[in-house]
Amino acid sequence: MRYLIFADIHGNLEAFLSLLKFTQKRKIDHYVFLGDMVGYGANPNEIIQKTRALKPISTIRGNHDKAVCGLDSVQTFNPIAASAIYWTKSNILKKNLDYLLRLKKGPQIINEQIAICHGAPFDEDHYIFGEFDASEAFSHIQTPICFFGHTHFPFVYTEKDGVVEGTFLMGKTNEIKIEKDVRYLINPGSIGQPRDRNPLAACAIYDTKAGKIKFFRLEYNIKEAMRKILREKLPPALAERLSMGI
Ligand SMILES: [Fe+2]
Repeated sequence: MRYLIFADIHGNLEAFLSLLKFTQKRKIDHYVFLGDMVGYGANPNEIIQKTRALKPISTIRGNHDKAVCGLDSVQTFNPIAASAIYWTKSNILKKNLDYLLRLKKGPQIINEQIAICHGAPFDEDHYIFGEFDASEAFSHIQTPICFFGHTHFPFVYTEKDGVVEGTFLMGKTNEIKIEKDVRYLINPGSIGQPRDRNPLAACAIYDTKAGKIKFFRLEYNIKEAMRKILREKLPPALAERLSMGI
């Protein structure tokens, strides 16, 4: 089985199109999306429709998805994020809003090996930043692997004999080998708004036969994504950060 793992698209169509092009050249058996289809970017409707067309897919909701459909208060967001949520609320089609409303809350168990969540397994809105959060997360999952998103950083935490270690995945490609006596908490990074000072879209492929997870960074038309954000009069900072990967 080959799983495509991706997260945090945030309405960035250009980054998402690059992901779709990337997958065309590879055999993908199952798509796994970790939340936040919308918020920040200028194409929420296109992202929802194109994500829905990927089959088979496992999805969960992110905090921006929740806020846009009224399941979460916008007040918990900073002013720039809140302004993008208000813009998305007034530009999203009813059928797409209904789809966001139906997205499942994490964690979800995909099979005996894989669980998924947006923030953390114990709280869908919690950021896993560091070994302390990761230890807490490991105590809440039973599967050997849990994929998460939300932080927009490609990161792997391992747990072996009670020892938790985190590794930031720097550079254009990375690969990890899945070991039998190790548990994993894995963030593929963000498609639509990377924050690790690398502006390229991030995703991962888990090949169960090879027992490996490979991490990729994809070039995309960042200028066009920025231009649309400015054209829609979304906060200019949302365009600037795309070019810097922050
Ligand atoms: Fe996000």
